[in-house]
Amino acid sequence: MTAVGAPAERREGREKVTGTARYAAEQPLPGRLFARPVPAAIVRGRVTDVDATAALALPGVVTVLTHRNAPRLASADDATLAVLQGPEVPNRGWFVALVVAYSPEAARAGAAAVRVTCAEETHDVTLTATHPQAYVPEKINGMFPGVRELGDPDGAFTDADVRVDVGYRVPPLHNHPMEPHASTAHWDGERLTVHTSSQGTTVVRAVLGAMFGLADERITVVAEHVGGGFGSKGMPRPDVVLAAMATWHTGRPVTVVLPRRMLPTSVGHRAATLHRLRLGADSDGRLTSLVHEVTTYTSRIKEFVEYAGMPARVMYAAPHLRSSHRVVRLDVPTPSWMRAPGEAPGMYALESAMDELAEALGTDPVEVRIRNEPDTEPDSGKPFSSRHLVECLREGARRFGWSDRDPRPRTRSVGPLLLGTGVAAATYPVQVYPSKAAVRALPDGSFLVEVNAADIGTGARTVLAQVAADALEVPLERVRIRVGNSDLPTAPLAGGSSGTASWGWAVHDACAQLAVQLAERQGPLPELGLEARADTKGAADAESPFARHAFGAHFAEVAVDTVTGEVRVRRLLGVYAAGRILNPRTARSQFVGGMTMGLGMALTEGSTLDAAFGDFTESDLAAYHVPSHADVPDIEAHWIDEDDPHLNPLGGKGIGEIGIVGTAAAIGNAVHHATGVRFRELPLTPDRVL
Ligand code: MOS
Repeated sequence: MTAVGAPAERREGREKVTGTARYAAEQPLPGRLFARPVPAAIVRGRVTDVDATAALALPGVVTVLTHRNAPRLASADDATLAVLQGPEVPNRGWFVALVVAYSPEAARAGAAAVRVTCAEETHDVTLTATHPQAYVPEKINGMFPGVRELGDPDGAFTDADVRVDVGYRVPPLHNHPMEPHASTAHWDGERLTVHTSSQGTTVVRAVLGAMFGLADERITVVAEHVGGGFGSKGMPRPDVVLAAMATWHTGRPVTVVLPRRMLPTSVGHRAATLHRLRLGADSDGRLTSLVHEVTTYTSRIKEFVEYAGMPARVMYAAPHLRSSHRVVRLDVPTPSWMRAPGEAPGMYALESAMDELAEALGTDPVEVRIRNEPDTEPDSGKPFSSRHLVECLREGARRFGWSDRDPRPRTRSVGPLLLGTGVAAATYPVQVYPSKAAVRALPDGSFLVEVNAADIGTGARTVLAQVAADALEVPLERVRIRVGNSDLPTAPLAGGSSGTASWGWAVHDACAQLAVQLAERQGPLPELGLEARADTKGAADAESPFARHAFGAHFAEVAVDTVTGEVRVRRLLGVYAAGRILNPRTARSQFVGGMTMGLGMALTEGSTLDAAFGDFTESDLAAYHVPSHADVPDIEAHWIDEDDPHLNPLGGKGIGEIGIVGTAAAIGNAVHHATGVRFRELPLTPDRVL
């Protein structure tokens, strides 16, 4: 029986396209109120007064919470969530009041009528590579060393036959899920119930429990349907804290929807990164030295580092290697997770520099990558559990028609359009975390699988049901599944491309146990009532002797308009080595989604921290352009059959993030091939290109 591997359709697809799927803000609870935050209009300083008189006089306004009257939090380990706890303003857009009203319209009018007075201090939001306050973090986000060095990279670079010494810049980027961050909280005196748009409600429950001094049993967090996350919903954000505070304060259900324009300053973003790359190679194109130095920023209240130097530790065989991170604390909104944090900007820079090296060598860029294929992971020396990057490059080249390419830049044109093609590699680490799951045989002959997975639009329900069906050895239709509720067996979040492997491992184990019980009993179904539980703690978090990463290759064809400066992507093709593909329909959708996000990163998505104003100037979807259908060609996503026994019982590597990695570099390299000009700052908007 093989449910896994079949292109099963999404179980919630009909609910979503018919509009019956309910999201966090769509909870029609009796007596529900609506709250809207008031953002600070200074960059750095203190609130000296909040005058809510005019707001409270408006019809429909119930109350205004400020740092003076808001519930005190029992604890707030995460400073970005300590809203309305004190007068300090760490960044523009920081929430300084919350207007609670009978309707969203009344809340909005009330928020506009709140008068906030602040004492302003000087600020600095400008990142430079030579910033005097830059420091080197010993450990990045508690996970990776800030600096790694092998051999003598500076000496080897100086001695190299061919040298590339280049700088790249990736601007701040915003997650902008289609469903904005939203929460509805309901407090009944004993229990707090929260519907929130989240990538994982187990962690939301834990954080709310600590902040409000409530035991887990008194909190239920639900995220049944989620309209995208891309990292920003990987942890609770101020909307859920404010909704919980407001329901605590008023005793009524309260919904907080963060308006689109408040997202950039309140839910995390990808920090800007400055890259310096030095690649030294011998005349055969083999790297002798690889140096990737990253400078980025974090906020004053919390350290989050975009670890863009990480891919250099994984990708290429260079005997002398350094990857380093320098960080500047600025008066900016706190940056955070965004799809392929580290890898997305890091591989833009590294893979662009590899293209420059290929050009300097006069060697085909696919070939240069193949020539630098390492035997073991360069940084750790561990063997790869599987790699297959070369196969991805070769298969991609074959499908794309790479061999017909004239390597000389600026040689193809149609009318005013210059045409070019480019390639880049992709990598993303394999991550898997402990999870619990339960399964029960029901009297009607079906099986109910329960796991607190989050389906953020990926099809998690569907693929987990497929995993369960195979482990139970029953048809897919006999599996029912419940996810998205913190009362279900605890599970990690949909993040780090780890969800399916983590939840699926526990689902597989629970269902395999139940299958054994069923085989032993062989009784008539109605009297069974059997159940099984699994917890992968110990197995899923065991250290692997292998370096485990997914790999891929991206190929792009672009047309650059010499009249308008507009870059259009004509073709985009990816080939991935990501272990076993569990559902080709939902997998393809994830790859294509990632590549589309990479296309946006290359061409249109970019945000600017205004030095004087201290805020992002592109704060809505009009100014921050995410690709629309008209921007996106028919994207091809393929994969090679990869059988890696060193991962998990499902054999999958995770596919949520690798699609974005390398896409921007492939497009940038194609733009260079088309124009003969090397642009080293994203996005490639007409004003830069013309
Ligand atoms: Mo993803 S940025 O790890 O949610």
